[in-house]
Amino acid sequence: MKDNPLNATDPLVDAFGRVHTDLRISVTDRCNIRCRYCVPAEGIQYRSHAEMLTYEELERFVRVAAGLGIRKIRLTGGEPLVRKGICRLVKMLAAEPGIVDVAMTTNGILLDQYADALKAAGLMRLNISLDTLDREKFQQITRHDELDRVLDGIAAARRAGFEQTKLNALAIRNLSEDDVVPLARFARERRMELRFIEFMPVDGDRKWTSDRVLSGKEILELLSQGIGPLEPASSNGSPAAATRFHYVDGGGCVGVVRSVSEPFCGKCNRLRLTADGNVRNCLFSPQQWKIRPLLRSGATDQELADLIRAAVGAKSHARGTDNGQFARCDRPMHQIGG
Ligand code: 5AD
Ligand code: SF4
Repeated sequence: MKDNPLNATDPLVDAFGRVHTDLRISVTDRCNIRCRYCVPAEGIQYRSHAEMLTYEELERFVRVAAGLGIRKIRLTGGEPLVRKGICRLVKMLAAEPGIVDVAMTTNGILLDQYADALKAAGLMRLNISLDTLDREKFQQITRHDELDRVLDGIAAARRAGFEQTKLNALAIRNLSEDDVVPLARFARERRMELRFIEFMPVDGDRKWTSDRVLSGKEILELLSQGIGPLEPASSNGSPAAATRFHYVDGGGCVGVVRSVSEPFCGKCNRLRLTADGNVRNCLFSPQQWKIRPLLRSGATDQELADLIRAAVGAKSHARGTDNGQFARCDRPMHQIGG
């Protein structure tokens, strides 16, 4: 019988025993806003369409990865909803045997338009980025006046039946402090889970410094002062994501992603695929494995599987995060996917 990687029984395990079940796919490096912490002031050179993996190529990649034990997929960007026909991709991936979860991280601007179609295509979960509820500040951060569309998008996601929608807020010192409590109130009123993410050195402008990180600890202090006491909640969901807390008054949950102050490398189960077809084993790794030439030159599934295994096998224990010294990423977030 032909050697079929889809029948592989070895999980995708790295040298430190971390079993990889999650795949983050950046479907485009383009975005309809230009967050200052992501896109550099001088703008960006987008990859050409020909460099992007097609939906059929992505489907094949996912089929091989599912054969190696990948179970959950998150579509990111740039902004995934600016890629044409994205619902078709969602449908293709949700139908792949072995894939139990297809989720998306979006800035929400186009959700008003797409939420129903995404639901119908089989998307299971949404994370929507929302850093502030102040219109002027939103414009300052993103260089676009689109807060109202994001808020409409959040409402549309709820109407469409996305029940576990999470809100993601980036936390930057001297920028985010005043937003913490209003965002938490907004999420509590809607019974949505909000997560604050510590600012990581993957910013387009390369202005990240460790003192610009508003830490999870400080955020929790702002929340307990501004809203009320919190107590640790049991984690449910990805082992590598947020640390969750309950409001003692029963008003729901809030999370902090302490990616800088308490990196979760030890539990990382994520693999990444960039829009232009590079496999990466870490946001902070300078290394990448080119899958596009393989996909376009008639490589076998076994060859694709070997490349995926090589990428996982080469994963470092921690990217300098265990001593608080991140190796700066060579590509900003919009090129790798959050
Ligand atoms: N650090 C942490 N999170 C970031 N994001 C973008 N840039 C950074 C960074 N430097 C987040 C966005 C969005 C998600 C796609 O990635 O806020 O929620
Ligand atoms: Fe777009 Fe996300 Fe980058 Fe903001 S952070 S510019 S929404 S890709």
